Amino acid sequence: MVQPTQQNIEDLAGAALAELSALDSLESLEQWRIAYLGRRGSLTVVLRGLAGLDIEERRRIGALANQAKQSLESGLEARTREINEAALLRAAQEDRLDVTLPGRYPAEGRLHPTTQIVREICAAFAGMGFSVVEGPEVEWDHYNFEMLNIPKGHPARDMWNTLWVDYTNEAGEQPMLLRTHTSPMQARVMESRRPPVRVIVPGKCYRYEATDATHEWHFYQVEGLAVDEGITFANLKGTLYEFARRLFGEERRVRFRCDYFPFVEPGVDMSIDCFACQGASGQAQDGGCRICRDSGWIEIMGAGMVHPRVLSGVGYDPDKYTGFAFGLGPERIAMLKYGIDDIRHFYANDLRFLRQF
Ligand code: PHE
Repeated sequence: MVQPTQQNIEDLAGAALAELSALDSLESLEQWRIAYLGRRGSLTVVLRGLAGLDIEERRRIGALANQAKQSLESGLEARTREINEAALLRAAQEDRLDVTLPGRYPAEGRLHPTTQIVREICAAFAGMGFSVVEGPEVEWDHYNFEMLNIPKGHPARDMWNTLWVDYTNEAGEQPMLLRTHTSPMQARVMESRRPPVRVIVPGKCYRYEATDATHEWHFYQVEGLAVDEGITFANLKGTLYEFARRLFGEERRVRFRCDYFPFVEPGVDMSIDCFACQGASGQAQDGGCRICRDSGWIEIMGAGMVHPRVLSGVGYDPDKYTGFAFGLGPERIAMLKYGIDDIRHFYANDLRFLRQF
């Protein structure tokens, strides 16, 4: 045990204070405090030795020891303050706000271009009194084909390259598929309500397709159906003409040509005059038009008068009711509207593409 002599106390205090001035963290200060002033610290131990001294010495050395203790304590306090202030100063310098730095943009989400165009199409028809309904993407052969006047073994089935679902019934048929178009909803809607019917059906479709710039194996369609007493081909033309003007501008002209779909009669395809060259490419312009490939016209949908067999299939009397139906591809409409040259961009999930809309 260190003898509590004047020399020992002065040595100890001197060493402690010298050590203290070299410390620069709060953790090392705490270690220092424990080493000198703690319960088993060197100065504490010396103070405890005072008990063994005679009364005169105890008073003299005791006073010295207390002085030493106080100077260690105030030294510790001062060093703690210095270290805290230095840390504050450092923080103030390092964390200084640089108002010239560019801000950080929040990662902002947006609607997929297909969603945007589908909503625009639905809004155009909603404004003409159509309501929006949706149907199943996994569909029965019954609705996708049979009810649409496309019986088994009929060559018209080849118009739809079908993805069949791996399920076989007792008759050995594969009656389930990923719907190849939204037309099965024509039959489902008519089965579930009486005329007048006026609906549009947006939704995803699937085909067993080799993909290229204009073909995807999955894509959207928007189907339309209007059935009532006295609906004529003029209603079909008027409605679709109005739609074309709402989506592509007031000055659009439309063209209808004969086409074949088993569930309509007569069937047509509808084109709009090219909004890029205002139809001028039809008269062979210099340089040519990429959008309409110099034809002056762009096909945008299939349509027709609902086939009497489809009407009677759902229990509507074809002598009393008539109707029209149409189906269009929203990606194709978006491609035309925004000048997109490859349908595969839509579902490749490349944000550089998607962020543009
Ligand atoms: N369902 C047809 C297709 O996918 C399009 C269409 C719908 C044609 C309604 C006429 C009437 O090709």
